Amino acid sequence: MWKFAHPIKHRIEETRWPTADEAARSLLFSPVRIGRLEARSRTWVPAMVPWRATADGFVTQQNLDWYRRFAEGRPGVLVVEATGVRDIPSGPLLRIGDDRFIPGLRKLVETVKEASGGETLLFIQIIDFLAVKRRPEKTKYLQRFLQVSERHRRAVTQITGEHRWLTANDAEVRSFLESANDELLERILSEPELAALNFGYRERVTDTQLQHIKRLPQELPDIFAAAANRAREAGFDGVELHYAHAYTMAGFLSRQNNRDDGYGGSPDNRVRLPLEVFRAVRDRVGEDYVVGVRFLADEVIAGGSRVEDAIYYAKEFARAGFNFLSLSKGGKFEDAQQPKVGQAVYPYTGQSGYECMPTVLSDEVGPFGRSVPLVAAIKRAVNAADVQTPIVATGGISTFEQAEEILRLRHADIVGMARQALADPDWCVKVLLGRGDEVRRCTYTNYCEALDQAHRPVTCKLWDRLDLDEPGIATVDEGRRRLEPPAWR
Ligand SMILES: Cc1cc2nc3c(=O)[nH]c(=O)nc-3n(C[C@H](O)[C@H](O)[C@H](O)COP(=O)(O)O)c2cc1C
Ligand code: SF4
Repeated sequence: MWKFAHPIKHRIEETRWPTADEAARSLLFSPVRIGRLEARSRTWVPAMVPWRATADGFVTQQNLDWYRRFAEGRPGVLVVEATGVRDIPSGPLLRIGDDRFIPGLRKLVETVKEASGGETLLFIQIIDFLAVKRRPEKTKYLQRFLQVSERHRRAVTQITGEHRWLTANDAEVRSFLESANDELLERILSEPELAALNFGYRERVTDTQLQHIKRLPQELPDIFAAAANRAREAGFDGVELHYAHAYTMAGFLSRQNNRDDGYGGSPDNRVRLPLEVFRAVRDRVGEDYVVGVRFLADEVIAGGSRVEDAIYYAKEFARAGFNFLSLSKGGKFEDAQQPKVGQAVYPYTGQSGYECMPTVLSDEVGPFGRSVPLVAAIKRAVNAADVQTPIVATGGISTFEQAEEILRLRHADIVGMARQALADPDWCVKVLLGRGDEVRRCTYTNYCEALDQAHRPVTCKLWDRLDLDEPGIATVDEGRRRLEPPAWR
């Protein structure tokens, strides 16, 4: 995990919780319009992948239990984890790329509606991602995956001064490369080849030499539209198009996107496919259905998009008719740490990853509401363009005081809490009852995120060892971790 050179350890400060009466009169617990719907409060649980789906992408009992637990806390909006829009194997992540996934998702909707007494709006985040392979062993990469070409033969000839390499066969070139040290390999292999060797092969939206990448603008609108329509059929109140972090649509929005086919380069070309996907979704699900978007206030990578880009996109998205804009930050592959051999690169290990899920080991600004100034700038620009699309701020927000201040200053319209909701899914209920002092406060040390990185079922260190002998509870790791927080009594 990336760290500041001289980190400052921030404390989880005491906070003043409201009385039940203050909570009832607060901005946070006042309703907000989202498209044709009204959320009962401005509390929002953003998407979090819990690694609980079946290996082929179906909803499990564990998924149902996970979302039931969040729904019991009755947030205004609950967003279901990033769910794949394609019908391709993608490990234990939920999928919505075919009608066969609808019955399981419908059950999830019914579970949440029942557990929240119908008080929580349920959206689902839908995502497309490109191939990411594990980091290969050096021998395996050079012997099997590398496509030996004339370029390699010429480079070896130049290094050795021996012309025989120009006509050497593939096996000879491979064994030369295998015996070469890192410095020589850096001179012989291209940048993408070195990246594939050192980090694992990864596709980028700019790999237009690959037909399926070139054709993304032709194919993705229909794929997203069909997925969004399934979400509607399953009974979700809305969909959130995932245009954030390290995934396909964020790749198009990135300032690093230099595609030359009209879908890269200038900001209006970069936003073109995201808008075309939106229009295809809107056409399919109809004007009355809630369609929102999650995208980045800042990519936090060299040569990446900054808040000025996000402001431009936000205005385009709002004018196009998205019903909410949910902002995140960072979470990119470009600055991720090198994975171990046999593991895949994880987009939350670099500085951009820190900014996505900031911890208490921080700089002087600290992790709490760290992205709010960017969100506020985006909201100001959107509202100045005479559009009132609600804007969701997330990142290190965990207290009522913080949330209320953000709303009072009009820095955002809705407040998201991901890890705080994981630490205590009953946050809203407790605060509304005037019992905020019973909230289990997130420590922002990212035990949960490490589990996500290891693709292990996500739990919180504050509750996963509590009451392990409670009858009937679901556990993992041979009974050493419970999968849901204990009920609040
Ligand atoms: C375990 C875990 C899984 C996450 N999965 C997603 C996801 O599927 N989609 C997404 O947009 N963000 C995801 N995030 C990011 C959160 O939605 C949120 O933006 C981030 O944790 C910062 O908010 P917080 O400080 O309130 O936790 C995930 C975060 C965690 C901790
Ligand atoms: S594991 Fe740590 S960072 Fe994650 S929700 Fe629990 S307390 Fe917060």
